[in-house]
Amino acid sequence: MNESQHPQTPRIIPASAEGIALAVQMLQRGELVAFPTETVYGLGADATQDKAVAAIYAAKGRPSINPLIVHVADRDALDAMVRMNKDADLLAMHFWPGSLTLVLPRQEGCAVSPLASAGLPSVAVRIPDHPVALDLLKALGRPIVAPSANRSGKLSPTTPMHVAQSLGGRVPLILAAGKTNVGVESTIISLVGPRPRLLRAGGIEAERIAAVLGMDILDLLADPIVGGRDQKESLLAPGLLEGHYAPNAQLRLNAMHVEDGEALLAFGPVVGPVVGMGKARLVLNLSETGDVNEAAAHLFTMLHAFDEAQCTHVAVMPIPEVGLGRAVNDRLRRAAIRF
Ligand code: TXA
Ligand code: MG
Repeated sequence: MNESQHPQTPRIIPASAEGIALAVQMLQRGELVAFPTETVYGLGADATQDKAVAAIYAAKGRPSINPLIVHVADRDALDAMVRMNKDADLLAMHFWPGSLTLVLPRQEGCAVSPLASAGLPSVAVRIPDHPVALDLLKALGRPIVAPSANRSGKLSPTTPMHVAQSLGGRVPLILAAGKTNVGVESTIISLVGPRPRLLRAGGIEAERIAAVLGMDILDLLADPIVGGRDQKESLLAPGLLEGHYAPNAQLRLNAMHVEDGEALLAFGPVVGPVVGMGKARLVLNLSETGDVNEAAAHLFTMLHAFDEAQCTHVAVMPIPEVGLGRAVNDRLRRAAIRF
């Protein structure tokens, strides 16, 4: 489909019972629907329809080697798709529904389109913790693949407007239910190797996952970008090697002063003021109380806001590398890279 065939704007409707019914009809026809989850808005397609899954890669401009997450409404739906194991059961019990994605071996006869998992022998699955997402999944009665509802490499959407701004008419329908709670994507744990590994820091703290698995957090950490980036490693987490979360503004991390022309993304009570704060073009604070969960919830919204205010350079104060602070720092590091 070429650009001129896309309508300019998507239809944004409230996620009411009627809205969900319409979304189900469209998904059944193989069309795309954006919907809220507790982390970010997802761009959904029926996971069992090859063409619908292909349409997601096209709408996002996403390389087809980067696999998608399969969303389901309940644990029972999973046995036909993936081979659950002891660790998977333990994590499912503790964190689902919730912001955790598990990468598991693909089950024989799995109905999910192989395109969704980019031909890998594994499938990434999660049960989202959002009433609209769960109602939609139950009403459709099939798994839904959903990457974040933004153009590939751009900021993830935490509001329906973000989706509309990023995808425009590439998504025909957006189910709107306000701002998402968690604000960063799910934590991804791979359970296909000899030991569980963290592939992406996200909405569930890695510390809590390590505690449930009875392992040291260091044993769980795998950094596919910084550490040991050999071919095997990049196959383990294909999407993680790409540029991501790019705002228009250039970010300068761990800043303790503001330079001429910069805006400031603050964190915590800015008492002993940041040097030069008075000259900042715009100051937004991720969390005045220094709460990393609040910082995660505000992160993408504030990066969008700097772009809307046409700030070209943003100084970002340091954020502690604990709990959801890991996910925030991971997104900021990637957002600061210029490819
Ligand atoms: O919170 C979330 O996870 C959101 C909401 C909509 O659920 N979704 C999301 O999807 O963040 P996306 O496509 O932006 O990120 C999916 C990540 C990619 O980095 C991809 O590489 C990884 O999941 N992934 C998917 N399947 C995988 C697999 N079989 N093996 C390893 N990584 C996989
Ligand atoms: Mg994404």
